[in-house]
Parts: sequence; structure tokens; C-alpha cells
Amino acid sequence: MSPILSVKDATKRYSTPEGGTITALDGVSLDVQQNEFVTLLGPSGCGKTTLLRTISGFEDLEGGSIEIDGTPVTHLPPHRRPVNTVFQRYALFPHLTIARNVAYSLEVAGLKRAEIGSRVGEMLELVGLGGFGDRKINQLSGGQQQRVALARSLVARPKILLLDEPLSALDKNLRQKMQQELKTLQEEVGIAFVFVTHDQEEALTMSDRVAVLSDGKIQQFGTPEELYRRPRNEFVARFLGAGNLLGATVSERKEAGAIAILESGQVAHLPSTDAARGERIKLLIRPEDVRMDSTRDAGALRFEGTVKQVLFVGTDYIVHVESDDGVELKATLRPRAEDRGGVTAPGARITLFVQHEALHPVTSAKVA
Ligand SMILES: Nc1ncnc2c1ncn2[C@@H]1O[C@H](COP(=O)(O)OP(=O)(O)OP(=O)(O)O)[C@@H](O)[C@H]1O
Ligand SMILES: [Mg+2]
Repeated sequence: MSPILSVKDATKRYSTPEGGTITALDGVSLDVQQNEFVTLLGPSGCGKTTLLRTISGFEDLEGGSIEIDGTPVTHLPPHRRPVNTVFQRYALFPHLTIARNVAYSLEVAGLKRAEIGSRVGEMLELVGLGGFGDRKINQLSGGQQQRVALARSLVARPKILLLDEPLSALDKNLRQKMQQELKTLQEEVGIAFVFVTHDQEEALTMSDRVAVLSDGKIQQFGTPEELYRRPRNEFVARFLGAGNLLGATVSERKEAGAIAILESGQVAHLPSTDAARGERIKLLIRPEDVRMDSTRDAGALRFEGTVKQVLFVGTDYIVHVESDDGVELKATLRPRAEDRGGVTAPGARITLFVQHEALHPVTSAKVA
């Protein structure tokens, strides 16, 4: 199946008021499949909005090309591209009713009244605002306004919907509710979404694939599981959530994996790595892969140490431990029923275990 969106080697520079230039996009290539939910994730200033704006045609590229549904659009103006954008600030018309807000682009396009009426009604039903059409925008909650913005962007039946941090203005509960609704809506309308966020949890829960950006470059593009379990480098590993990164040196190569010596002296068997003998690497260990239970973990790495801090986060405890050989480890521990009083307390002695299979080597080098 050919991709609905194909960005090839996109480069975009801005000149600064001081007379310099910023490379906002530095050779970005990205394919999005039909019906796919793709998220652009990265820190402020990494180029997320710029990439959306070049796809929608509000910014020109200095280099590279963009195709939508097999048609080159690199030099087409925004209104000739079959995409629409939902912005962070929804930019709704406050003095118009919901129905008129949603109808606006169809009115501009000169569609017949009856056609507009039925399409607007259909859209409002889809976003759960059926029967609210005559209300004014300023009579709506934040979540309802967000739904109007979605309806307005979808009513023109774009092939791709671009969403630039559309949920960032909402409080946490509403945001989570809208995440689910948005995902359901995307599945119902069956078009590709390119969604921008700098919230890693949001990216992981909503997306089919995530592109992690830094300094105008894609560091890694893959499924949420791939990025979380097998990040390509330290930047991706850190950006996708809490983890332990332990320094190590590769001492011996095996057919697929390698043996590495941790700074604390333990011998680690790495299931797979490209790292060469003598190379210094970091080993990623996700906190949920650190265990207190030794019976299942014969042969696992073992860390004896002292509990520094215990944080209760609902279902689990996050326990910070400093091992006797100087390794700091963060572990997510789930108390058994008999431990309801708490798994452990600061100052307590503890032994932690990590399976060799849970070690994932990462390089510190970013994609250049
Ligand atoms: N019109 C402009 N003129 C000059 N520089 C710009 C312009 N727009 C963006 N930039 C710069 O380009 C880089 C990428 O900006 P962009 O808006 O794409 O970042 P972003 O990833 O969307 O960030 P945020 O998460 O803060 O929205 C930044 O360094 C920014 O300062
Ligand atoms: Mg932005």
C-alpha cells in the first residue's frame, strides 16, 4: 500500500533577527500510511510545528519534497492540499454558533445549503455535539470547544488531519478523556492523523507510530513498543520515560550479543548489540524490570544496597536505591497483598535483581 503522506529529505531554515540562520528541519523523511495515527514527539523548538506547517503548505521547503496520496504538493498553496490543521488555540469564531463555525469552510467553498446542513449535522453527531448546533462558542466547556475544532477540521473531508498540541490547554482528566475520544474518532473517520505533542505518555498511548525529533532531525521512528523497549540512543531512551542508564564497557563480542562490564564491576550478558569490543555504552533498564523477587531470577544481575526514597504512586511504589557498589537504581515495585503497609522504607537494606534480557544497550550519539 502506498503511503498517504511521504516527506522526503525536508529541509527548512529560518533567518534570525540577529542575522544568523536556524535549521528548523534538517533532512526529515517520514512516511505515513493510510489510516495511521502518527505522533511527532520532541522538546520545545525541535521543529514539530515547522514540519506540520510545511506539510500544510504554510511554509515552503528549502530542500526536499512532499507527496500526498501519490501527488507532489511541494509547490502547491495550502488551499490546494487535501489536509487540515487543528491548532493548539482552536481559533474558533466566538460570536458564531457551533454549527456556523463548523460550516464555515464549506460556505467559503460554495457548497449548497442542504449539503452543508447535512454534513455539519453528521460531524456534530460524530464528535458528540449533536443537538448543540445553535449554542455559541463562549457557552461551551474547553473539551466541547476542542470537539468543535475537530468537527470544523474534519467537515471538509481532508485526507490527512494535522493536530498541533490540540489537548495542551485542557486539564489532566479532560485531556485523558479527549485522548481516548480522539483515538476513537480517528478510527471511525479512517483518515491519517499527524499529531504533535511533547508529552511522552500521550504519544505512547495514542499512536500507531511515533517520530522522536531533536534539533530538526528524526532520532527514531517506530511503534511505541519499539521506542520504549529498543530506543536507538540515549536521547530517545530518556525522552520516553523514566529509566536507569548504567555505564558499561563492552569486553567481549558474541555472535549476536556481547559481554559488558558495568562501572560497578558486574558482568552483564547483552542479548543483542552492535557495539564493538572496548566501546563505552549505557545500559537502559526500565524501572519495572527491576525486581525484589530472587526466586525467578537465578543468574540475574544482583544489587545490594540501601533504600533512599519511596514514592507511592497509586498502584506501585517507585523506590530509589543506592547499591553498595555505587549504582543508583530506580525500581517500580508492586506490593503483594500482605505488604499493604508499604514495600519498604528509606534506610532499609534491599536486594534488587535485573534479568540480563532486560538490559538494552544505547549509544550516547544522536542521529547527525
Ligand atoms: N518564523 C520563524 N522565524 C524564525 N525562527 C523560527 C520561526 N518559526 C520557528 N522558528 C524556530 O525554528 C525552530 C523550530 O520551531 P518549531 O516552532 O517548529 O518548534 P516546536 O517543536 O513546534 O516547538 P514547541 O514545542 O515549543 O511548539 C525553533 O528554534 C524556532 O525558534
Ligand atoms: Mg510547536
